[in-house]
Formats: sequence, structure tokens, C-alpha cells
Amino acid sequence: MSEFIVNGGKKLYGDVTVQGAKNSVLPLLAATYLSNSECVLHNCPRLSDVDASVAILEHLGAKCRFEGNTLTVDSNGCFSSDIPETLMREMRSSIIFLGAIIAKCKAASMSLPGGCELGPRPIDIHLSALRQMGAEIECTAGRLICTAPNGLSGAEIHLNFPSVGATENIILTACKAKGTTVIYNAAKEPEICDLASFLNSCGAKIKGAGTPTVVIEGERELSGCVHNVIPDRIVAATYLFTVAMCKGAIRIKNAIPEQIFPFCHILQKCGCDVSVNADSVTLRSHNALHNFDVVSSGPYPGFPTDAGPSLVSASCLFKGTGVFVENIFDSRFRYVDELKRLGADIKVVGRAAIVTGVKNLAGAKVEAHDLRGGAALVSAAVAAHGTSVVRNIEFIDRGYENIEKVFAQLGAEIKRK
Ligand code: EPZ
Repeated sequence: MSEFIVNGGKKLYGDVTVQGAKNSVLPLLAATYLSNSECVLHNCPRLSDVDASVAILEHLGAKCRFEGNTLTVDSNGCFSSDIPETLMREMRSSIIFLGAIIAKCKAASMSLPGGCELGPRPIDIHLSALRQMGAEIECTAGRLICTAPNGLSGAEIHLNFPSVGATENIILTACKAKGTTVIYNAAKEPEICDLASFLNSCGAKIKGAGTPTVVIEGERELSGCVHNVIPDRIVAATYLFTVAMCKGAIRIKNAIPEQIFPFCHILQKCGCDVSVNADSVTLRSHNALHNFDVVSSGPYPGFPTDAGPSLVSASCLFKGTGVFVENIFDSRFRYVDELKRLGADIKVVGRAAIVTGVKNLAGAKVEAHDLRGGAALVSAAVAAHGTSVVRNIEFIDRGYENIEKVFAQLGAEIKRK
């Protein structure tokens, strides 16, 4: 397992361009399976989760080609519908291929995604919606066997929770179903809008993405298209919170203001100087920062659960007490014990992390247990005085493209070993 060696405590200064959004490119890759010709994705991040999705597409028969951050996919003529367990286990969010495969092949089989480091990851909302559209789904011996003997039909689907993945799977299936599908209480995340924009460029007819009600016309013939993946708002948050805790200044050149508003608002309240332009954001952190009162994660446009670990990590060095409440996943606080090894003062009570700011963090050996918690540990190590080792960085490589190069470019002393 690789690790980062960090000699922390330095201020950070510089300009960065944020990578393409992991949580956008994964459903986009599933969507390319529906196209009858070549799709080109620009600003595609080089991540292990992207590699896992490409491996699935190639297993299904698609031709994939990476050139820098441009990924070309041609799924024309492929009608495989089975994803083997080895590929499913590589990445839990492979469930996002279910909607595209059953839409194209009227059948799909794959192993159940199971849980992950964040706790159980049920897919009941996905399955209930696909059944309402005519899919017959059996879960036996850890595998999902799906068929659509009478084809797929549009439906009016009310989600009991605005699940991001379920919304994406329904949209993908609905593009090929007979008739119109309406999703009520749909997820409103920017990644849903990016998927709808990609599919509409291919010839789909999707309205309302980004609102609670999404309407999809079915039986659409989808061609290929050229698409720019939106910037990763969670990676932008990680960079902003890291510079806030280390002191210094950062300009993120390709930020989308409304997507990073939650983080900028909190950091301004804590005492950072934040200025937002049409396509960039600048943060300056020079004074002593004071902690936020209470921040709770929730569905977009609320504070994103994925940015929680970066917020908690930064707040370790803010004066006073801050409380972060995690409402989306059951076990997203495993990184807290590792932050405490760096000298953080945090108590986890149920769904809340109660942080009391300390003057400094001190270098230590820590271990990543998941993607976002791991990134938060790197941020804390970069801020800590002295040398730290961050182990199990494979978790971080799932979602951050060369995180150590970006922090080094800002002035941090960090090396991959
Ligand atoms: C997506 O996961 C993201 N992953 C997650 O990012 C993100 O944390 C999450 O949305 C919330 O924003 C990708 O986009 C690849 P959900 P997803 O369905 O689709 C429950 C990261 O670090 N639920 O909105 O799985 C579920 O248990 C990852 O980049 C059901 O109960 O999220 C959870 O409590 C982590 N039944 C909540 O809903 C279902 O059928 C949110 O899940 C589906 C979900």
C-alpha cells in the first residue's frame, strides 16, 4: 500500500484548476453505453474509479481510449449485459450501470454492490423504481438478475429520498422506455444536470434536471456527442478548507460559484476573505479563524456529505467549538480517530462530530479508511507541524487526481512513496 510523506506547517499560495467531477464522470460513462456512436469526454479525471468504469465498459465490448484528460468511448454494437463480480467489487458505484444496461439490452446481471467504508449502501430505491418501469428483478446468491420481458415503460416515480444514484439510473432507463417518465423528489445535485446535459446532447429529451421534478421522454435514439465534464466541487472544497487551515491564499480558476457556495459561505463566517467571480473563487486566510456553530450535511443544495471530512479537518484549527452533523451516511467518521492522532480535539456523539479548535496539529502516522476521510487526513498533515505519514492512499486516488502534486504546487512538502 502506498503512502504520502508530508513535512507540514507551511502556508499555501497559488492558482489551481480543479479536475473533472468524479461523481459526474461515472454516470456519464454509464450513459455512453446507450450511444450508437462515439462519445468524447473532455476534462475527464484520471482516477482509479474511472479506470474501474472503463474496465466495465470494455468488458461489455466498448472501445475506450484515453488521451490526457480526454476519454473517447464507442459502445456501438455492444449488447453484453453482465458485469462479473470482480469488476463490480472494484467500485461500489458500479450499480450506476444497471439503468443503462437494462435500457439497452432489456436484461442485466451483476453482483449486488454490497456496502462500503461508509456503511450499508442499499439500492432499494433503484430497484423499486426500475420495477415500476417494468423490470423484473431477482436478488439471488448475491447477484441481481434483471429482465424486461414486456419491455420498459415510462412511469410516475416518487422517490422517498432524493437518491443521486437512483435518480441517475431512472434517467438512463427512461431514455429508452416507452412513453414518458416523471421523477418526483429527484436529486438536484449538479452531477444530475451534467448527466442530463450529456444525454440531451446525444438526442435525449430531459427537462427539469436540477429541480425536484424531472421529465424524460422515452424511446430516444441516442447518438454520440462531445462533452466537457463539470469541475469537481468536492475537490474544490478540499482545496479551500486546506488553505483556510494552513493560512495563505488560493485561486480556483474553474469553480462554478453556485456549486461551491456552501463552503465559501461557511469559510467567510469563520473569518476567511472569499471573493467569487463568474468562473473563479479566491480565498485568503491570514487571520485567526473562529469555528462555525453547527453545520449539517444534506441533499443538494445543502452542505454535501462528501465535503464533511474536509470541513471537520479544517475546524480542528479554528478557535472555539464547531459541530458537524452527518445526516446521509451511517459511518462517515472513521477519519476522526486518525485526526486525533495528529492532536485534534474531536468527540463523536451519534451523528455529530464536536470539534474544539487547538493551536496546532503535530505530525504523526495516520491511515486513510475511505476516500474523503483520507483526503481530510492529507489536509491535516499538510497543516500539522512536523512530519506525517498518510497510509492507504489508494482510497484517495479513487477521487483525487494527483492530490500531492496540487498541494506541492501550492507550497506543501509532500511526496508519494
Ligand atoms: C452519490 O452516492 C455519490 N457517489 C456519493 O459520493 C455521495 O456521497 C452521495 O451521492 C450523496 O450525495 C457517486 O455519485 C458515485 P444516494 P449515492 O443514493 O448515489 C440512501 C464520494 O465520496 N439510499 O444519494 O450512492 C443511502 O444509504 C461518494 O464521492 C437508500 O437508502 O448516494 C444514503 O444514506 C460517497 N436506498 C443516502 O440514501 C437507495 O436505494 C444517499 O444515497 C439509495 C440510497
